[in-house]
Amino acid sequence: MNKMHKIDIDLVEMTLDVMKYTIDRISNVTPELGAPKKEEELFELIGETVTPTGIGGEVAFKMFRDILVKATVPIDHPRHLAFVPAAPTRAAIMFDLVTSASSIHGAYWMEGAGGIFCENQAMKWLVSLTGLPEGSFGVFTSGGTAANLSAMVAAREAWRKKSTGNIGVRALLLTSNGAHSSIQAMAKVMDADVVMIDCPDENLRGHALQTAIEELGEKDRKRLFAVVATGGTTNAGIIDELDSIADVCEKEDLWFHVDAAYGGGALAAPSVRHLFNGIERADSITIDPHKWLFSPYDCGAVIYKNMELAAEAHSQKGSYLEIFKDEGAQGFNPADYQIQLTRRLRGMPLWFSLAMHGTEKYSTSIERGIELAQIAAKKIEEAEDLELVRPASLSVVLFRRKGWTAEEYRDWTYRNHKSGLALVTPTKWKGENGYETISRFCFINPETTEDDIDMILETMM
Ligand SMILES: Cc1ncc(COP(=O)(O)O)c(C=O)c1O
Repeated sequence: MNKMHKIDIDLVEMTLDVMKYTIDRISNVTPELGAPKKEEELFELIGETVTPTGIGGEVAFKMFRDILVKATVPIDHPRHLAFVPAAPTRAAIMFDLVTSASSIHGAYWMEGAGGIFCENQAMKWLVSLTGLPEGSFGVFTSGGTAANLSAMVAAREAWRKKSTGNIGVRALLLTSNGAHSSIQAMAKVMDADVVMIDCPDENLRGHALQTAIEELGEKDRKRLFAVVATGGTTNAGIIDELDSIADVCEKEDLWFHVDAAYGGGALAAPSVRHLFNGIERADSITIDPHKWLFSPYDCGAVIYKNMELAAEAHSQKGSYLEIFKDEGAQGFNPADYQIQLTRRLRGMPLWFSLAMHGTEKYSTSIERGIELAQIAAKKIEEAEDLELVRPASLSVVLFRRKGWTAEEYRDWTYRNHKSGLALVTPTKWKGENGYETISRFCFINPETTEDDIDMILETMM
């Protein structure tokens, strides 16, 4: 008989292994900085794991714990300062286990009411940070890419409804060279065009946007449906001039989306909140709790000023789905506001951590990331061989090692990664003489120390 769903001694042992591993892992503040191995090497060590009769939980788990996890980079390592790292709270990680164990379908209130209630409590706080008007709300998505796509599809559908002349027309959106790659990628998914405004400092302002609109030909102006501004660029932490962009969007009757996937957490940081002024005028906003709001992967969020428009774009119809719209099953249905139907309640870990710790601890932990960037910038300014490329912005620091070539930055990255010291990667910045390879820190983990920064900088001297 098939015993896969039965409770037996193997299940008990596997559960103990998992719980022991989980407790060890979340209490380890400096997990080994793993590095990738070639697939052939891993296969050599592991062999075939999926077989007709199974290799057993104990063996499979041991392979993961002793070999495979060591070929991954822990994103919460205090000296992982590359890309946009993450540092989920222990409460959020533990509740991620609870979310899985509870087996809740997160698409419709009928099945997921209690869990969706949790998500909505967390969402209420997120929305309050934006200052959007009454009636604005949002849903959790698999990440910033899915949130951006959901918002852009809602915008395009709203634009098509505005005029029959827009039906069947390939839509066009405007953004800047500071925008994240997902904007172009998702426009491709939607079969929309993107015009990228080349801002010298990757910082979009209202007047540059106005000029770009005026430079569009008449046909393209008619295809223009939205503007995507960035609330904290991935590369440099720069926040576009949201207020003046909102002015232009209002004047030109364009959907105003703010991609704050990375920077959105800083809405909870009083020291920089004013930099986001104008975000409260957006039609939609992306914020990734799995970046700077300490949620485990994956958790993004899309917020809309007008939820009706989002529902018109995303609500799915099918005879088997009609029950969810019935009076007796009514409630908030997350499936109606983003691209996914069946969904994990991925806002639940954020909710539990917020409920446990309170929002003030979130603010202080986010402020610490900003402070670490300022501390690192000061150390760089004081070091003879190093130079700041631009002032630290949010939690990002761009800096150069005087005299280094692109190859030297690359080799330095590999050296530090291989030795298990740190993961810090190069990026590019456009200066007066074109693009230059430089180095970049992005701080998220409030447990990163000044010593960690010193240890990394010393490897550049
Ligand atoms: C500004 C911005 N937008 C969108 C994304 C994409 O988010 P995700 O990787 O969660 O899909 C990122 C990721 O770094 C980002 O920084």
